[in-house]
Amino acid sequence: MQKTKELYAGKAKSVYLTDDPDTLLLEFRDDTSAFDGKKVEQLENKGAVNNQFNAFIMQKLADAGIATHFVERLDAQRCLVRRLDMVPLECVVRNRAAGSLCRRLGVEEGVELNPPTFELFLKDDELGDPMVNDSHAETFGWSNSQQIAEMKKQTFAVNEVLKKLFADAGMILVDYKLEFGLYRGEILLGDEFSPDGCRIWDADTLEKMDKDRFRQGLGSVIEFYREVGKRLGIEFENC
Ligand code: TMP
Ligand code: ASP
Repeated sequence: MQKTKELYAGKAKSVYLTDDPDTLLLEFRDDTSAFDGKKVEQLENKGAVNNQFNAFIMQKLADAGIATHFVERLDAQRCLVRRLDMVPLECVVRNRAAGSLCRRLGVEEGVELNPPTFELFLKDDELGDPMVNDSHAETFGWSNSQQIAEMKKQTFAVNEVLKKLFADAGMILVDYKLEFGLYRGEILLGDEFSPDGCRIWDADTLEKMDKDRFRQGLGSVIEFYREVGKRLGIEFENC
């Protein structure tokens, strides 16, 4: 299937229409952004690595019975997905304290969170993706309580599958962000799962292996993304 008109360009992916109105083409670019687009760089091969990483994870979720928008990977940097009507919220689950949770609540980085937390953030770069709750979502029409309950259920179901997947490969899934949309009226997992949108630490050394390497200027960003993929058994091609 050939891509046609560009529908939308996000910070790291471009979305194209296809000849099927229910299907979109996602192109993973090398652009890497942090701090709501305030820090942007091109990291060679990031698009290809993340596309292949995402395809692998989406397949693992499908194998575990979790439906997603993912249809198939087309080539190194592109895949096909179902067209969703996106909910403008980010669902974040945390197994360990890191990032904004530490800043907001003064918790020490690395503390285990039992049970894991679930948070909602509004997707709005200009506002700095503020944390919101289900009351805000309902009042402002971003989602409703039934959809939020479903997103929460699916986000925790993803946690059960991926926590084990990473643990079995010697890594800790610290936290991650998921985005959902509506497909034929039902909540369905969309967007991507890659080291851009989660925190992954080496289980022994606690070394950071995700986009915090970019955010914090630690270097070797894509080398670590590849290492995470390699440990999971991904054989990257054309990158
Ligand atoms: P945070 O600690 O900055 O709130 O981020 C929590 C997790 O969500 C972390 O894995 C990064 C991810 N995330 C994104 O991928 N995009 C975003 O816009 C935000 C706010 C978080
Ligand atoms: N994805 C967001 C951004 O670009 C936030 C982040 O990952 O730090 O800017």
